[in-house]
Amino acid sequence: MPKKTSTSNELEDFNEFEVESLGPPKIDSPLLGYSRGGPGGESIAWDAFTDESHRVLKNATMDSYIRFKESGQPPDSFEPAGARRKIYFDPSKVRAGILTAGGLCPGLNDVIRSLVLTLFYRYRVQNILGIKYGYQGLIPAFGHALVQLTPVLVSEIHQFGGTILGSSRGDQSVEELVDSLERLNMNILFCIGGDGTLRGAHAVASEIKNRQLKISVVGIPKTIDNDINLVSRSFGFETAVAVATEVIRSAHTEALGAPFGVGLVKLMGRDSGFIASTAALARGDANFVLIPEVDFDIDGPGGLLTRLHDRLKSRGHAVIVVAEGAGQKFFQGAEVLKDASGNTLHKDIGQLLAEAIRRYYKKLGQEMNLKYIDPSYIIRSAPANSSDQVFCSFLGQKAAHAAMAGKTDLLIGQWNDHFVHVPIAMAISERKKVDPMGELWNSVLERTGQPELVSLK
Ligand code: F6P
Repeated sequence: MPKKTSTSNELEDFNEFEVESLGPPKIDSPLLGYSRGGPGGESIAWDAFTDESHRVLKNATMDSYIRFKESGQPPDSFEPAGARRKIYFDPSKVRAGILTAGGLCPGLNDVIRSLVLTLFYRYRVQNILGIKYGYQGLIPAFGHALVQLTPVLVSEIHQFGGTILGSSRGDQSVEELVDSLERLNMNILFCIGGDGTLRGAHAVASEIKNRQLKISVVGIPKTIDNDINLVSRSFGFETAVAVATEVIRSAHTEALGAPFGVGLVKLMGRDSGFIASTAALARGDANFVLIPEVDFDIDGPGGLLTRLHDRLKSRGHAVIVVAEGAGQKFFQGAEVLKDASGNTLHKDIGQLLAEAIRRYYKKLGQEMNLKYIDPSYIIRSAPANSSDQVFCSFLGQKAAHAAMAGKTDLLIGQWNDHFVHVPIAMAISERKKVDPMGELWNSVLERTGQPELVSLK
């Protein structure tokens, strides 16, 4: 465990919550020159600057406060995100690059747009470059040209899903990436992506530090899976849940429309069941929710098939929501395949369940009507909904402010309702998971009435 500092102002020792900085910010922010309408219509100076000493507590409970107070240690806290009065970079000299990497996610274009508009209009940065297809765009061998991003170019992009910059998976040589940043004279790199992208961003920031360069690397956490550590919400997640909720509604309608009707929905969520759990909660139609974090059996007296049969006998229809990473124990012995980012490619639990349910009813000799829906990429290619659009707009603004202030190797997160700076190393140290003893899962159990699905041996 890293040693804590004795007071929040004396950073004598390494503190894992401390955000790296390229150097002291000495330049007056151009935002100081802005004004806005006062309550009586008068013009008042824009003063929405963030005071770094107003740190955001990691744990907002009284218990934690008392524990820290008794120990004499300052509580764990994040640096607040937001515009600084003094900035590090001279805006007229800045060359900023933006890349999107990993799987698609609703809101990517919204974040790009927000970054460009904030850099251009608030800081008057003229050189904003779009890097095509993730980290590939920095590697000369791929030959992807850079795109000059302007307010006009990005003005309509938030209407569409996907990313105007394109994306890719896969590791690139960190040395080559930093060589390119040097060659291009870039001083800011925004990396919009999930776990893999953030790992890449951290490696790039470390290499920049080794070379003693002054290039800021700022991550913006993206993933429909919402599985990034120390980030209470990643953008795209809410849109994914909203689209998934509609799919569950369809499955319920189908299940109601036939004798012994079963609607089975498989939702994305590689290693975390946040989309499945939250969408099931939103609809309230699901009777069984299966997620990677909670074990279940298919056969046996307490297993899914017996419980499903009980439900069909009592109510005549049922809806099952399964996250793609659930039940992978049923594929033991199968070849383990990885994607270009090194993630395990999960076997199709939806198909396996559909076949098991059909076999079960065939054996029973009883009619059962199963409708299996796998919305797959339909969910994450959707444009962001209004809630995610607002969120993405904030994230882009906060990321621009962080970079201009010379912060580096951090991502913009939301924690206890505040936007904060999270050192990337902390965010990638583990994956966020649904806590089987926590509030979300308990609420799913209450809402569905789902019993434990494990057969006692
Ligand atoms: O991480 C987001 C995600 O949508 C996962 O839920 C899913 O497993 C994965 O990406 C699939 O990505 P792709 O098919 O693009 O590699």
